[in-house]
Amino acid sequence: MSTFKNVAVAGATGNLGPAIVKALVDAGFQVIALSRSGKTEGLPSRVKTVKVDYDSKDSITKALKENNIDAFVSNVPNHDSQPALIDAAIAAGVKRFLPSDFGSNVSGNALTAKLPVFAGKLLTHEYLKRKESEIEWTIIANGVFLDWGLEKGFLINKHGGPTQLFDDPNNKFSATTLADVGKAVAGVLKHPAETKNRSVFVQSTSISQNELLAIAKKVKPELKIETENVSTAEVLKNSYGLLEKGEEIMGAMFGFLKVSIFGREYGSDLSGENDNELLGIKELTPKELEEVVRENL
Ligand SMILES: NC(=O)c1ccc[n+]([C@@H]2O[C@H](COP(=O)([O-])OP(=O)(O)OC[C@H]3O[C@@H](n4cnc5c(N)ncnc54)[C@H](OP(=O)(O)O)[C@@H]3O)[C@@H](O)[C@H]2O)c1
Repeated sequence: MSTFKNVAVAGATGNLGPAIVKALVDAGFQVIALSRSGKTEGLPSRVKTVKVDYDSKDSITKALKENNIDAFVSNVPNHDSQPALIDAAIAAGVKRFLPSDFGSNVSGNALTAKLPVFAGKLLTHEYLKRKESEIEWTIIANGVFLDWGLEKGFLINKHGGPTQLFDDPNNKFSATTLADVGKAVAGVLKHPAETKNRSVFVQSTSISQNELLAIAKKVKPELKIETENVSTAEVLKNSYGLLEKGEEIMGAMFGFLKVSIFGREYGSDLSGENDNELLGIKELTPKELEEVVRENL
């Protein structure tokens, strides 16, 4: 079984990338960042940034070969562009590919996989399975980003206006901090045999909307949080309606994302089946959870 040393991260800046790079560097991997723009925000100075042209397979393959890359972590936001990255990785002799996924349970839940917002992820999963005699793969599913979701006002609306509570707000869903997603990436590459050609599932916590609200009220009593009840069935119907009319496509996609996180049938509670222990992820204690909420609300 292969062991990995040199790792390329594509899309290493932005929301999640820096946490992945930090965890890989902390775990002792040699990391390079592949970038369209050459920007380096959030990256340690010892991590080399290599500018690539994602429209040119040769450009990516050259960067991978020149740096003896044996594992490729994709973190690009445009999921349907990934078959080209996989081809370039194969041409460069890369052993393992981790696609940009890092969210809902697309690989483990048929309803989630059907949601149009995940078409690019699904295409990538299918492509990796077709190419598995040429390159190994691991998909990471971690539910919603906990700290990012709070900071952006997605999990609790801190920008004014009501927080939407979906279906039964006591339903649990998995949420993971950016740092723990990074740890999961490093954990996968430290456990090549156990993670070869499969999806892994991680979470920092499994929590309900009501539990999250109770913590928010405790740690930020000054924040006035209004709520409104919403049904995911309605959200789903509206999103398909918008798609059909070709209107507000971003709004429709956002609706599908909400359904994948808060819809009971969409497999978003990963607490019973996860790989936390294998990958070195520890669930947040109640105190740590409060701290994450306090810091990000
Ligand atoms: N579970 C969740 O709650 C959640 C939330 C957000 C995102 N995600 C997932 O996490 C992954 C990363 O998302 P992110 O928000 O970190 O991404 P992002 O910040 O939008 O983009 C990451 C980096 O990718 C590069 N990039 C941007 N557009 C690109 C393009 N068209 N082609 C190639 N590279 C491009 C940019 O770096 P350079 O300029 O250096 O190339 C950018 O800084 C995605 O799979 C996303 O679906 C999950």
